[in-house]
Amino acid sequence: MTNLNGRYAIQLHDVSVFYGHKPAIQHVTMPVVSRKITAYIGPSGCGKSTLLRVMNRMNDLVPSARVSGEVLFHGQNLYGPEIDPVEVRRRVGMVFQKPNPFPKSIYDNVAYGPRLLGVRDRAALDQIVAQSLKQAALWDEVRHELKKSGLALSGGQQQRLCIARALAVEPEVILMDEPCSALDPISTQKIEELMRDLSRHYTIVIVTHNMQQAQRVSDYTAFISVRKEERPNEEYRWGELVEYGSTMELFAHPQQEETADHIAGRFG
Ligand SMILES: Nc1ncnc2c1ncn2[C@@H]1O[C@H](COP(=O)(O)OP(=O)(O)OP(=O)(O)O)[C@@H](O)[C@H]1O
Ligand SMILES: [Mg+2]
Repeated sequence: MTNLNGRYAIQLHDVSVFYGHKPAIQHVTMPVVSRKITAYIGPSGCGKSTLLRVMNRMNDLVPSARVSGEVLFHGQNLYGPEIDPVEVRRRVGMVFQKPNPFPKSIYDNVAYGPRLLGVRDRAALDQIVAQSLKQAALWDEVRHELKKSGLALSGGQQQRLCIARALAVEPEVILMDEPCSALDPISTQKIEELMRDLSRHYTIVIVTHNMQQAQRVSDYTAFISVRKEERPNEEYRWGELVEYGSTMELFAHPQQEETADHIAGRFG
């Protein structure tokens, strides 16, 4: 057998997430291929963000959330008893829809994670900050004003600062939840180029509502859709994986009619 653990950074096996008694997403089985970009697409409320948060245990922070199934990270279940969620979040970083720099200097934003991990040496921190900002394609724009507040940057720069902050703790996987949806087209293009560049060294999962973006940046795409069930006095809605495959294949030859409708913008 080939070494699946090398090819797949993460493998989801029959993953379901409930908030209280209500399912948000059910029975998802699919891999996340190492050093590639995977896009999650699907209608609002189908559980894309929920599924992303499963992969770095961010759902732990939602008291009502319960996860079942297995999330294997290099073959090890992230929900196993011996796993430290803080270490998981270091190795699997996250970037959100709205850029959310801390109200601190550019330098301190990037140095924040390394400091938490115990890096105190100034030269070492300087080096990490510079390298992370370079990797995030922001260095040239901010190198002379590292003391400036992160909040004083433009939206696109703030998002790249958040990416630099994520990179500073040397993650393997970066989860991006609609990272461009608050940005103008030029900033979006910059982030897309940056993602392509980063995918040489990092595994990236991106949630996007933009079909063109999914096609431009991702190697693999998963289409998730909503299922409904009427119960007495309430309606259950949850997401299910409809189709997963190479982005080129999925967009050129969708296997399911539902996928074809979604990517053509025919929302039912
Ligand atoms: N913290 C929470 N507590 C309770 N229910 C939640 C919570 N977060 C999400 N949900 C529910 O889980 C379902 C999936 O939500 P989720 O945010 O994962 O969807 P999504 O696909 O990311 O949607 P969108 O495209 O609008 O961002 C929704 O029904 C939502 O109401
Ligand atoms: Mg979402």
